Amino acid sequence: MNTLDNFDVAGKRVLVRVDYNVPLKDGVVQDDTRITASLPTLNKLLEGGASIILMSHLGRPKGGYEAKFSLEPLVPALEKALNKKIKFISSLPLSAETLATAQTLQPGEIALLENVRFEEGEEKNDKTLSETLAKLGDAFVLDAFGSAHRAHSSVSGVAEFLPSAAGYLLEKEVKALGQLLEHPNPPYVVIIGGAKVSDKLLVIENLLPRVDKMLIGGGMAYTFVKAQGGTIGKSIHEDDFLEKARELLGKYPGKIVLPS
Ligand code: 3PG
Repeated sequence: MNTLDNFDVAGKRVLVRVDYNVPLKDGVVQDDTRITASLPTLNKLLEGGASIILMSHLGRPKGGYEAKFSLEPLVPALEKALNKKIKFISSLPLSAETLATAQTLQPGEIALLENVRFEEGEEKNDKTLSETLAKLGDAFVLDAFGSAHRAHSSVSGVAEFLPSAAGYLLEKEVKALGQLLEHPNPPYVVIIGGAKVSDKLLVIENLLPRVDKMLIGGGMAYTFVKAQGGTIGKSIHEDDFLEKARELLGKYPGKIVLPS
């Protein structure tokens, strides 16, 4: 994995994919954890003499602009966190104006691009979009740990067209996960949640042989409770996965812990 430690960014425009999918209420960021988590990478790039173009998604727009998913409300929170002015690039990546704004950035300057999911090709990992995004910078850094599993243009597509490196957040998380998969310190307890078993099945099946206990919470716990013969009323569950849940409960007796 290429990391920031051997990545020359002096005088370069660095396109950074962050995960600023933050909760907003009345246009105000409610939790800036994801912004704070990106600061070590951004500060390292600034110290190295780069200018930065930030890219992120926010929410799940249906394709095209939707005001409630605009990244513009993040500008004040970012300016506060970085103690710097941020240029907001509101036009979509494909416009000549976007390219011009990105290309005139001076070392130390930062721009934030509007929600990349407003571009139709983003979630299709469209090659033309990836190539166009790549024109905004001279190098690419992926620091969006929460989105790194998505084969989208701004996450993986763009890396095919630019020298690329992992940011500090991504590096830290990959190291932590690597240790948990290969050399965990016992007792090894995993807490997992989310609405659906179907989304997490591969993770659950991969982790169960390695862990001492798996605490399953959130909506998906109901599928397991029902599989065990419990009563769940109208709670969310997946009938298609009852058999699988039963199989896992039987295969790893005592390992799966459900809420009472
Ligand atoms: C998240 O908040 O889980 C990440 O930003 C990923 O968002 P997504 O599931 O909409 O891709």
